[in-house]
Amino acid sequence: MQNVPTDREDLRSRYDRVTARLDPPFAVVDLGAFDANADGLAARSAGKPIRVASKSVRCRQLLRRALAGSGWRGVMAYTLAEALWLARDGLSPDILVAYPTADRAALRALAADPVLAGTITLTVDSVEQLDYLDAMVGRDRPPIRLCLELDASWRLAGGRIHIGVRRSPVHTPAQAGALARAIAERRGFRLVGLMAYEAQIAGLGDAPAGQALRGATIRAVQRRSRAELFGRRGAAVAAVREHADLEFVNGGGTGSVALTAADPAVTELTAGSGLYGPTLFDAYRAWRPSPAAFFALPVVRRPARGVVTVLGGGWIASGQTSRIRQPTPWLPAGLRLTGTEGAGEVQTPLVGPATGRLRVGDRVWFRHAKAGELCEHIDALHLIAGDGIVDVVPTYRGEGKAFL
Ligand SMILES: Cc1ncc(COP(=O)(O)O)c(C=O)c1O
Repeated sequence: MQNVPTDREDLRSRYDRVTARLDPPFAVVDLGAFDANADGLAARSAGKPIRVASKSVRCRQLLRRALAGSGWRGVMAYTLAEALWLARDGLSPDILVAYPTADRAALRALAADPVLAGTITLTVDSVEQLDYLDAMVGRDRPPIRLCLELDASWRLAGGRIHIGVRRSPVHTPAQAGALARAIAERRGFRLVGLMAYEAQIAGLGDAPAGQALRGATIRAVQRRSRAELFGRRGAAVAAVREHADLEFVNGGGTGSVALTAADPAVTELTAGSGLYGPTLFDAYRAWRPSPAAFFALPVVRRPARGVVTVLGGGWIASGQTSRIRQPTPWLPAGLRLTGTEGAGEVQTPLVGPATGRLRVGDRVWFRHAKAGELCEHIDALHLIAGDGIVDVVPTYRGEGKAFL
């Protein structure tokens, strides 16, 4: 079921009115919904701080806004180059790069500056990566802060069945303890964190539209996977703590904040997508963010009765390619993509009852399937509060920063 506000038409009139002077394509963030989402996530985290996932926001001003909210602390960055940029900007004194890096220039910059080295934490899951870091920046440097990533997938049948994503090879508490010991025995590293991201729970909607059986199966798998992870994560944390004073144990994402917060081993959560409320998060039962980020495209022609065409539209989300990665025409209600063309590179035909009311020059409001990727298509976000645009802020792309 989609997250349909009862006042869709009111919303459309308001967004049309507020942005009347802008020419599409452009994107907006509704600050009322963004702030409500930030508060809604914080209310679900059992008092544990939430680290903001920058990949899901990709706009410095909105990262700052999230961090100003109560219950939010620290940044989860997605590349080291990005983390250096954010750290130099003073965005946060605590930036975790949650994906391993092989960026030599960025590593040299990190190793050359004790302040940056004290702000940024790198993620590792193997001795091979430690060797690489040493080879790139030597051992004569400020200690590099490290976070050990524990695989949070659920393995069955001796590993032949893998439920989850392919991330870290460190799966058992014994493996986690061994890597923690290897780090402790090396000069130049400080193990400060452990992260285990349960993508099969946090990133997989448990109530996919029109698929009751699949939803029931997902929920059953998620329940068992969660029980398995709670036991294993707790034991892994204990094994790692024998070799390191951990500052944090990070877990979860937008789709699992409350569930992950209930794990006593976890000290902090991560979330990002829930701030923008993209369509993939409409498929969750426990909590659905309010749609907060939209992009507008202009109607440019009407090929036939019952069909209108907007310019652009093919802002497809990453991941396994499927229909749910396409953008959704949201306002006015009553529009859909066609099965034959989908969302096109330069034009997108739309069908549905609302086409009868649309004329050339009208706009159609879309939602992206994912959060931060929207920002790779536009230079700025127009921030809406009440009945006005209160600010226009650059996206990463608008600042000339395309990190991935
Ligand atoms: C390590 C990690 N933590 C948390 C998240 C959750 O982010 P979001 O809240 O944007 O879904 C992700 C998303 O991919 C991730 O890779």
